[in-house]
Order: sequence, then structure tokens, then C-alpha cells
Amino acid sequence: MSSHLVVGIDVGTTKVCTIVGEVRADDIFIVGVGIEPSRGMKKGIVTDITSLSAAIAASVHKAEKTSGFDIKRAFISIAGKDVAGFTSRGSVGLTGNRGVRDEDVERAIENARTIAIPHNKEVLHVIPRAYSLDGQEHVRSPIGMHGFRLDVEVAIITASASSIANLDQTLRAALIEPDRYILNPLASGEAVLTPEEREMGVVIIDIGGGTTDLAIFIEGSVWHSAVIPIGGDLITNDMTHWMKVPFEVAEAVKLQHGHAREKAVGQTESFMVETFGEEGMVRFQRSDIAMVIEARVTELFERVQREIKMSGYDGLLRAGAVITGGCAQLPGMRELAQDVLGMPVRLARPEAMTGMADILRNPSYSTSVGLLRVGLNMDPMEEIAANGNGKGRGLGGWLGGIFKGLLPDEE
Ligand SMILES: Nc1ncnc2c1ncn2[C@@H]1O[C@H](COP(=O)(O)OP(=O)(O)OP(=O)(O)O)[C@@H](O)[C@H]1O
Ligand SMILES: [Mg+2]
Repeated sequence: MSSHLVVGIDVGTTKVCTIVGEVRADDIFIVGVGIEPSRGMKKGIVTDITSLSAAIAASVHKAEKTSGFDIKRAFISIAGKDVAGFTSRGSVGLTGNRGVRDEDVERAIENARTIAIPHNKEVLHVIPRAYSLDGQEHVRSPIGMHGFRLDVEVAIITASASSIANLDQTLRAALIEPDRYILNPLASGEAVLTPEEREMGVVIIDIGGGTTDLAIFIEGSVWHSAVIPIGGDLITNDMTHWMKVPFEVAEAVKLQHGHAREKAVGQTESFMVETFGEEGMVRFQRSDIAMVIEARVTELFERVQREIKMSGYDGLLRAGAVITGGCAQLPGMRELAQDVLGMPVRLARPEAMTGMADILRNPSYSTSVGLLRVGLNMDPMEEIAANGNGKGRGLGGWLGGIFKGLLPDEE
């Protein structure tokens, strides 16, 4: 039985997590994990290549030790405030009286991709959203169907070329060749969304340390994505100012006493903390801390709400919202999200996979686990072919017929 390795590295603002998976007979077995605190990244953007590459190298090294494999290439998560999504259309004429073939679909997608992309942007993903044949819309899978003209509507996701170049350089300094860059919430979605949710319409909201990344899935594929530069670090920062304590102290208080809803916290709960200056130990009301957190989290979900409205798909999210990411664990987060967004909200963590360490069953690791699922959904033969003609690179590489996990289901 043949097997191959898939490696995912989630390069986050808070931590770098490398996971090694072995793919055997359509299933994936986790054989190694390496988690390392991150340095040199702010709001999803590289700010210090040397520090970040050292953190990546350390995480990779741990995963190599636990798995016993040498890691040379990996799928890498990417977020950052300069990620943008938009829609494009492409079409091709079909000759001869034969059914639509894979290569026709690929040509149509390629045509949709040839729209003008500003030279300071790189294409990350080109995701087919809908097909039509001779003007007949809503064709889920055109393969084998007859017609004269095939049209495709795609979601194109781009990132700033210089952000990608910096990430590229950082990875190479850690001796890692990026296989592909996968947009953060797309990877998280692979790990935590059910096929039913994706079909019905759902927004996944990954609330990390530096950014909150969201993606809207409808009819099984990604229709829209966005990155909001608010995450757990900003909440801790607010607490730092309000409490007049160092960042590390505020962070520890957030993890131990934090709550996203003031009214859910008892008025009598309080605790002592060592502050800056001459006051020494000071007593804080837990509800006051919750008030500070609630203000920022409310702002966050209001921005998410605005982003959903702007996408035009707000009426289509029948499965509501799914929150994940480290910061989603803050008590009261789900309820607050439900109030602000006005839709049902579920808190999600990656489901168990064979060989998965318990530590990964935590919302912080949705992206890391999702990167492996992305790898599982890729056909290694197609990948080789794609690499052969230069399309397989993450930079500007398109995932059309290759990235099956994000294509509409083939019935
Ligand atoms: N139990 C918890 N309760 C509340 N907040 C938590 C908890 N655990 C982690 N966090 C917060 O989650 C954030 C880190 O989340 P995560 O690990 O998803 O970030 P990341 O992926 O490294 O960052 P990003 O995706 O923004 O680059 C930090 O702000 C941290 O304080
Ligand atoms: Mg993250």
C-alpha cells in the first residue's frame, strides 16, 4: 500500500504549529506535531524574518523528532489584513459533440483568472462557485454534459505580493519550501465545518491572536473571505491600559478570569493583581474586566456583521456562524456573537483524527489540522502534473481542478 506525507504549518501570531500526516488509503494519520510560541509576526504579517524563521525551524524540528521524518515542504496558512476576495467570470467554447471534460473546466477557470490583477497582488486561490452551460445556470458539475459554451463564476482571493515574498523568505530561512499558501479560514473550515453546514450556508470566524479571519461557505464552496485586524492580543492590550499592568499579566488575567459578557459575571467576584507603579497589589472586579473585553469583542462582531452584509450573502447563511481559533474559547464569546450577529453560533474545535494528540482538540489548532485535510483532498498525481507545468506553486498557483476540497461536490 502506498503512502505519502502531508505537512501543514500554521504560522500564527501567537504560535507556530507543524503537523505531519501520513496519507494511507484515503485516510490521514497524524504522526508528528511541533508547537512553538511565535515571534516576529503582527496581525498576520511578518515583522521580523530572523525571529519568525527561528520559531518555524523550532516547531518543524519538534515535528521531525516526534514523527521521525525529515520535513522539506509544507502547506502554509496565510492571513493578514491585505488579503482580499472578489468575483470573476470566464467562459470557453466547446467544440465537437462530446461531453464537457476536465480540461474544458480548467480552461474556463483559467480564463476567469486572466483578469487584471494589480502587480502588487498575488493570487492565492481561484475557487469555482457556479457553472452554466449555454446560459443554463446552477450547473453543479458540468463534466460529461453537452453544450456549446461553458461559463464559470469564480471567487479569487489575493494577498499582497510583498507579504507573500516575506513569508517565502522566512520559510526558506527555516529550510522549508512552501508547497502552497492556504488562506487561514479556508483551512480552519476544512477542519471544523460539516458538509451540511457548507451546503446550507455558513460563516466561519477564526479568532486568533493577531487577526480574525472569516470565510463564507455556500452550496459547498467558498464564496467570500475577509480578514479583520482585531484578535486576542488587542483585547489583552485594552486590559493592559485599563488595569495598568504589563501585557503578560493582563494576558494571564484574561485566560484565568476573562469573560466576554459583563452581565454574565457575578458582581461580587474579584481578584488581586500586581500593577505598575507604587500601588502594588490592587483588587479588580471581574465584571469590570468583562466590560473592557465586551466592548472590544462587540466591535469585532459588529465588523464581522458589516463584512457579511457587504458580501451580499447575509440572507444565505442558513447554518449560521461557527467560531473557532484560540480566542473563541473566551467564556461568553458564543453568546455575544449570537446577540450581535443575530444568528445561531457554534463553538468548534477540530474533531479527533487517527493519531491526533489531545492537545490538538482545541479551537487554537483548527487551522493546523485543516491544512492536513487540504493535503488529503489533493490528488498527488494531479499535484505532480501541476508542478510539472509550473502551476503547482503556492505563489500565484491556482487551485482550480487541483484543490478538490473546495470544489463543489461531484455528484
Ligand atoms: N482558554 C483561552 N481563553 C481565552 N483566550 C484564549 C484561550 N486560549 C488562547 N486564547 C487567546 O487566543 C489567542 C491565540 O489564538 P490562536 O492560537 O488561534 O492564534 P494564532 O493562530 O497564533 O494567531 P493568528 O491566527 O491571529 O495569526 C491569544 O490572544 C490568546 O490569549
Ligand atoms: Mg490562527
